[in-house]
Amino acid sequence: MPPRAIVFGASGQLGVELVRELKSRNYEVAAWDRAQADISTPAAVERALAGFDPQVVFNSAAYNQVDVAEKEPQAAYQVNALAVRNLAVACRQADALLVHFSTDYVFDGAASRPYSEEDATHPLGAYAVSKLAGELYAQAYLERALIVRTSGVFGPGGMTTARGNFVELMLRLARSGQPIRVVEDHVASPTFAPHLAARTVDLVERDARGVFHIGGGEPISWFDFARLIFETAGVEPRLQATNEREYRTPARRPKYSPLSNAKMEKLGLAPMPPLREAVETYFRLRGAPV
Ligand SMILES: NC(=O)c1ccc[n+]([C@@H]2O[C@H](COP(=O)([O-])OP(=O)(O)OC[C@H]3O[C@@H](n4cnc5c(N)ncnc54)[C@H](OP(=O)(O)O)[C@@H]3O)[C@@H](O)[C@H]2O)c1
Repeated sequence: MPPRAIVFGASGQLGVELVRELKSRNYEVAAWDRAQADISTPAAVERALAGFDPQVVFNSAAYNQVDVAEKEPQAAYQVNALAVRNLAVACRQADALLVHFSTDYVFDGAASRPYSEEDATHPLGAYAVSKLAGELYAQAYLERALIVRTSGVFGPGGMTTARGNFVELMLRLARSGQPIRVVEDHVASPTFAPHLAARTVDLVERDARGVFHIGGGEPISWFDFARLIFETAGVEPRLQATNEREYRTPARRPKYSPLSNAKMEKLGLAPMPPLREAVETYFRLRGAPV
């Protein structure tokens, strides 16, 4: 019998890749988007699990509007924290593995080397607090949850999602013809959604439990990432470097939040491919003209 997996948030950037990856490995998959199963409604979560009896439940649903969350922290907390409690309770009842995704923003960015799973968390805003609370709810109700922290997710699914991603934002700004200002003093590890999905399923298949980091190829500033995107796309907009002092946002963000993949690699998983390769693949899969 093929293993049965549920994916919540199935039409998000990561959700579509998880569904694709699981199907390619012959899982029987139930894929629910928000309209079909809102994870903030306990009855909807219970119904989804009861009807399918999954061995593993992937939660790729999230409230990801980092700046808007400062105005509506309850909305972020509802989806990123309380809804994870719904999933954890349901997974405990069904004896299913919960695979939950979290963020590099649980850290404050004061480090000078990529963050490991053992580093102390210190979220800087409402979104980040809500994501850390989600981790805690998963761990509070379940002995065997798998929590994957990732960073700056971009996948071709972002072409059609409401929130999009950094690549699509850069292309949109380039089309507008306006100068584009991007911070050069914030560094992260942008992560290609198909690679993230594949490594996550690898972790599941190796019975990994607890917290794991899966960040993209290498630490890079958002300015350099923008430069790489435009180089790969073959467009030359007016790109200007700025910094956090000049470019204020409602939410504070960690200045340095790359994730170390050492724990994942120690388990025998393949390292994440270089970022340049991921961006090239993105444009190949994306298809549409830039
Ligand atoms: N994107 C990033 O840069 C980033 C960085 C670090 C960590 N992460 C984490 O990585 C994971 C995947 O993110 P992503 O980039 O794939 O996000 P995404 O593209 O924004 O997708 C999130 C999905 O969740 C759905 N959703 C929102 N509220 C829901 C609810 N109450 N019930 C069911 N579905 C709901 C959204 O549906 P609607 O479109 O209908 O709202 C959307 O399809 C998340 O845990 C996120 O926090 C992302």
